[in-house]
Amino acid sequence: MKATAVANANIALVKYWGKRNDELILPANSSISMTCGGLMTTTTVEFSEKFEEDSVTINDEELAAEKDAVVAFLDLVRQQAKTRLKAKVVSSSNFPMAAGLASSASGFAALALAASEAAGLKLNEKELSILARRGSGSASRSVAEGFVEWHKGNRNDGSDSFAESVVKADYWPEFRMITTIVAETKKKISSRAGMSQTVKTSPYYEGWLNTVDADLTTVRNGIKERDFSATGSCAQQNCLKMHATMITTKPSIVYWQPATMEIIHSVLSWREEGSECYFTIDAGPNVKVMCLDKNEKELRKRLEMLEGVKKTITCRPGDGARLTDNHLF
Ligand code: PMV
Repeated sequence: MKATAVANANIALVKYWGKRNDELILPANSSISMTCGGLMTTTTVEFSEKFEEDSVTINDEELAAEKDAVVAFLDLVRQQAKTRLKAKVVSSSNFPMAAGLASSASGFAALALAASEAAGLKLNEKELSILARRGSGSASRSVAEGFVEWHKGNRNDGSDSFAESVVKADYWPEFRMITTIVAETKKKISSRAGMSQTVKTSPYYEGWLNTVDADLTTVRNGIKERDFSATGSCAQQNCLKMHATMITTKPSIVYWQPATMEIIHSVLSWREEGSECYFTIDAGPNVKVMCLDKNEKELRKRLEMLEGVKKTITCRPGDGARLTDNHLF
């Protein structure tokens, strides 16, 4: 009863921001992301009688807050698999946690696959996405490859709220996402708390909900047509709309740092000069820059020269969650 899974992070082009059900993690709007090849979490789960309690080690540390979330998730798996066995979970990511880089997405997608497999559940991709969603909303998208849409669904039980590929990983091989890391510290306000505060207090949240369907259509079609200008410009505006709702909550949530602004202005001027690129930012200070492979090297070099940029990582559309024999223990 041991299994290991690998899942990639994902970056949303049309963001998920706000829930219609907190407990089941049902979103108020659908979203579209790119699964980021190379931003990976590997997780091994073993259920056994030899364990008296669950143990959780993430990147060589036993972290109390993360442990609670993982144990709650294991309880869901135990419920589905009708077992009471305790588990050992060891997980490791190759990028910083909780810095707006969607480590919870790759983390819960890998955990969903490893834990369900170790518990003897054979879930298909849709069922796996629904399970991963219960750990963290964005994790529902990391289960699938390439460009992925998470359908918000309408049912109260969440059975139609899952993600699936819009196109496979090899459909648009020229697309690049340069992740620019300006801070590796854990953010002060989690996405979960941030979106809940936004739904409750931002006067602009209605505006967000009213325009997101049009963005979904534009980005979905842009991806299918491999139209970089349409996809990138809409994704950038969608990110700014999401941040506008956060900035206007009470109290205000501003995830951006000075280096974030520096990158925003640079991307805007580089585009004017002819290197086509667009930015997107999640609930954190790091900026992801979208471009095509022909401009990637030059843009990355320029990004690394900016003040406050610690490092950059380039991703292309990547694989969904998968099992591996390389167990971590
Ligand atoms: O799934 P969570 O709770 O990590 O929330 C993700 C929220 C954003 O990253 C800001 C947007 C998104 O769609 O990934």
